[in-house]
Amino acid sequence: MRKILLMVAVASLAALVMFAQDKGGGGKGGGKGKAPRVNLKVLPDDANLIPTMQSFVAGLGVMDKGGCNFCHEMDRSSDAKQEKVMARMMISMVKDINSKFPDGKEHVTCFTCHRGSTAPATAP
Ligand code: HEC
Ligand code: HEC
Repeated sequence: MRKILLMVAVASLAALVMFAQDKGGGGKGGGKGKAPRVNLKVLPDDANLIPTMQSFVAGLGVMDKGGCNFCHEMDRSSDAKQEKVMARMMISMVKDINSKFPDGKEHVTCFTCHRGSTAPATAP
């Protein structure tokens, strides 16, 4: 039990450090205290980027599968991991689905299918 608690503490600390890194940086990409985004192909470069990323972690339930690192290398702009490449295709697919709703609202999210799992059920 104590071991598990310690692991949780270490994991949260690691997450904190990762978030802190994301807030740092600056330079081009506009906005104070925001790291420059260099490889966005489907998502807009706005203040929602990190909350969107957090929704991926929750939607796919990868908190204990590396969290952000389920898709990312240390350099988040890298496309080396196939999970990230797959996720990018999924983002386009979800945008496409939502664009077909008459009210233009975001009805379908990663969670709609994934429900906290990396492998959505495709049969009852
Ligand atoms: C399910 C996969 C997935 C997870 C989990 C994920 N990301 Fe991402 N991330 C992506 C994809 C895909 C892109 C590229 C989006 C695009 O091309 O518009 C991206 C892009 C980024 C970028 C922009 C990099 C650049 O400069 O091009 C940052 C920063 C980032 N993610 C941070 C995070 C953080 C922080 C977390 C954890 C809270 C996280 N990501 C979790 C898939 C993921
Ligand atoms: C319409 C249903 C649906 C939606 C919505 C959806 N996915 Fe998926 N996703 C799937 C299915 C089905 C698979 C498994 C595909 C396979 O069997 O290869 C999958 C697989 C994945 C994988 C690969 C997982 C692995 O183990 O490597 C990633 C990453 C992923 N999805 C990310 C996302 C993200 C991010 C979103 C939201 C932007 C999203 N998905 C939305 C159905 C969906």
